[in-house]
Amino acid sequence: MKDFAGKIAFITGGASGAGFGQAQIFSEAGMKVVIADIRQDHLDEALAYFKEKGAPVHAIKLDVTDRAAFAAAADEVEKVYGGPPDLLVLTAGVNVFGPAEASTYDDYDWVVGVCFGGVVNGLVTFVPRMIKAKKGGYIAATSSWGAFNAGSMTAPYTAAKAAVLSLMESYYVSLKPYGIGVSVLCPANIKSRIYEAAIKNRPEHLKNTGYNVNEETQKFLASIHEYGMDPRELAVWLKQGIENEQFLIVPYSSGPRMVELALRRFVDYASPEGMKRLEERQKQPPTEEELQHMAEREGYDPRTGPRFMNSDVGFAKARKDLDWVDPGKKAK
Ligand SMILES: NC(=O)c1ccc[n+]([C@@H]2O[C@H](COP(=O)([O-])OP(=O)(O)OC[C@H]3O[C@@H](n4cnc5c(N)ncnc54)[C@H](O)[C@@H]3O)[C@@H](O)[C@H]2O)c1
Repeated sequence: MKDFAGKIAFITGGASGAGFGQAQIFSEAGMKVVIADIRQDHLDEALAYFKEKGAPVHAIKLDVTDRAAFAAAADEVEKVYGGPPDLLVLTAGVNVFGPAEASTYDDYDWVVGVCFGGVVNGLVTFVPRMIKAKKGGYIAATSSWGAFNAGSMTAPYTAAKAAVLSLMESYYVSLKPYGIGVSVLCPANIKSRIYEAAIKNRPEHLKNTGYNVNEETQKFLASIHEYGMDPRELAVWLKQGIENEQFLIVPYSSGPRMVELALRRFVDYASPEGMKRLEERQKQPPTEEELQHMAEREGYDPRTGPRFMNSDVGFAKARKDLDWVDPGKKAK
């Protein structure tokens, strides 16, 4: 997709962080933009921004886990802009971190429900409408670098993000004959407000977390996101990826090499010799190249940048009453 002007974009999570950056960049490219978001305060803020610019942006309050509301949002887009979106961007997401062995059903149901279920719901809602409109188009989802990097403290999140990557590949192949392109965006650290989610947007019926989550742990997470990529810069990577019909967008100059190194572990996991190789490699300090890649992804140099002491506030630790979690068994 190369021409954006006059076309319709629908962006979930479009009122903050990565999604708001996408809304700005596609609006500046001349698109009629719909931002769909669960937070009314984020929607109000974003709309005020676009109103000042005089840009055509329509806001819909939407919880991406609510399928009936998603269908109603799709009807609303057709009513307001006269057709289904030409560009669908599925960006809404949440996170919460702690040891895999502490995870509860609620941790999975919330994080996977929004990060993966929200993308599924977007696809099931809009793909038939986009195909029937016979105007081609483009669909992108915001996954994460975590899709390549299952972390011991990120089980629900990285599992959901890996699932999004795989899901989008299925749609990439399926939708090509309809003239609908598909991309998946896999950023690492973004300057965003995702740290608010675990305190502010987690629904009451999914509140039973196994992790230590409080104002202090979320402030700690916020201090890391301060170094993240600017959402507008990230959205420019996405737009270029869409223009080039590039399926996988890892938004760094070393992106392809990062993927190559990350996937090397699967080759190693697949044989006894490989497992030995992997263990040996894990004993070594990171190479210069790996350190350089970490700096690109995190936005600060791990050799000279800030030192984040997560143990001080108990970030990504288990809830204290979980008596089977042994903090002495620290994962590498
Ligand atoms: N922040 C990072 O470092 C980072 C890294 C990689 C990937 N991502 C991904 O980027 C995407 C955007 O996150 P962000 O970092 O910009 O965070 P953000 O919190 O600033 O923006 C996300 C928006 O999604 C909305 N949202 C949350 N739950 C929702 C729901 N159920 N329905 C509708 N909207 C909902 C929030 O209200 C918020 O406005 C997410 O999918 C996230 O997983 C973030």
